[in-house]
Amino acid sequence: MDIITAIMNRRSIRKFTEQEISDADVTTILKAGMAGPSCVNSRDWSFLVVKDPNTLQKMADANGQYAQPLRGARLGILLCGDLNRAFPPAKDYWIVDGSIAAQNMILAAKGLGIGSVWLGTWPESGRMEKQRQLFSLPEEIIPHSIIAFGYPAEEPKGPAHPEWEEDRVHFEKW
Ligand SMILES: Cc1cc2nc3c(=O)[nH]c(=O)nc-3n(C[C@H](O)[C@H](O)[C@H](O)COP(=O)(O)O)c2cc1C
Repeated sequence: MDIITAIMNRRSIRKFTEQEISDADVTTILKAGMAGPSCVNSRDWSFLVVKDPNTLQKMADANGQYAQPLRGARLGILLCGDLNRAFPPAKDYWIVDGSIAAQNMILAAKGLGIGSVWLGTWPESGRMEKQRQLFSLPEEIIPHSIIAFGYPAEEPKGPAHPEWEEDRVHFEKW
């Protein structure tokens, strides 16, 4: 699948089949996350990879009502920022770097025929704290997002958003 096709046809998938995701594909997805740009190449993220269904249920509980897709997912990745590695003058770039890693993983999965949905964790302090407790995260490791993955068992109907919005674009001047 070429990159433009993957970007333009990606949709959030919230229902998954029981087909397992191979370890090779998990590795490819993680490598895609690690391939993104990061502020001063700080690579200030970590990936907590979960396939155990019991742990996926606990992650769903911790993230609240909008995390239901995790319950049927074959794989959940809790993407975390690593403040030990963040750019000292502006550590908040960890949030940008984490977002890029998350989207790279989603697009890599799309290319592999694997569906996914982004489940927001940061900046919801309750969700962040519960994920921290669930995994006993070190203090400098900050929960950013969970991506739920699996082979699609649904095809979202219709576009989620317009392909082109004229009023969002300003050429040369505002
Ligand atoms: C930061 C962020 C947080 C999100 N959190 C959730 C979530 O908690 N639960 C969920 O089902 N979808 C979540 N989504 C997915 C959005 O609802 C979805 O991307 C949006 O409705 C557009 O649909 P599409 O992804 O199919 O294009 C999140 C997306 C982003 C970028």
